[in-house]
Amino acid sequence: MTTAQMPPASVSLYEKTTCSPMMGGTLHPGGSELTRRAVELGSLGPGDHVLDLGCGTGRTVRYLRGLGYPAFGLDFSRTLLQPELANSRTFPGIQGDALHLPIQTSSLEAVICECSLSVFQDLSGVLIEIHRVLQQTGVLILTDLYARVPDQLSEIRRLVPNSCLANAFAQKELWDILQRSGFSLAVWEDHAEALSAFCAGADLNTLINPENLSLDPFDLVLAVSRAKISYFLCVAQKKKRNGK
Ligand SMILES: C[S@@+](CC[C@H](N)C(=O)[O-])C[C@H]1O[C@@H](n2cnc3c(N)ncnc32)[C@H](O)[C@@H]1O
Repeated sequence: MTTAQMPPASVSLYEKTTCSPMMGGTLHPGGSELTRRAVELGSLGPGDHVLDLGCGTGRTVRYLRGLGYPAFGLDFSRTLLQPELANSRTFPGIQGDALHLPIQTSSLEAVICECSLSVFQDLSGVLIEIHRVLQQTGVLILTDLYARVPDQLSEIRRLVPNSCLANAFAQKELWDILQRSGFSLAVWEDHAEALSAFCAGADLNTLINPENLSLDPFDLVLAVSRAKISYFLCVAQKKKRNGK
């Protein structure tokens, strides 16, 4: 594999992570139960086309298809997608980069990113792409890590750089960037309970890169509790052309 083809760190970390059976084989807190809530809040209608962006092993795609939605997934990692693709030739998974979606403009009713938006290296670039592929009334459904006390994020970033935790959002920053990218916020819910359950059952390498394992865990626990790291579910609506 040449350097140009190597997956970025934001991808290879998840290739090394075992999906927790507790989470139904997904790599995000809340598992399929939180996906069910996301579908409810996103007010998806029958037949709506949904892209799971950063779909990992594709479990949410399967879940959504089981509910009757013509869902499909895209992930950078061939390694994560491969088992599903091998299982079923008809599994609708695309290996690709979220920054260059091989999808027609204004063709989708919804895009869902479960714990993947924070991982994308060029967040603004990916939001432009999501905005492009969504129909005028389309919705972006997000679940991800955030800090309820964002001033404290800098300490986490110092202790565990290049980790999932270091990418946690500050709510206001995320709102601002969504606004600037042409979305308005429709719903925001806190799901701290999903993160607690995930931490109890997950391979913690997901949250803190193995390269950081030499740190004093008490320092990290303290920093995480000071920042009040939690998990959110939000639905953002593509703004109409007049900006509303
Ligand atoms: C925390 S995992 C979440 C996976 C999945 N959404 C789930 O809940 O199980 C983040 C995913 O984002 C993918 N990813 C990271 N950067 C990407 C990119 N530029 N384009 C597409 N996928 C990317 C990773 O390969 C990984 O599967």
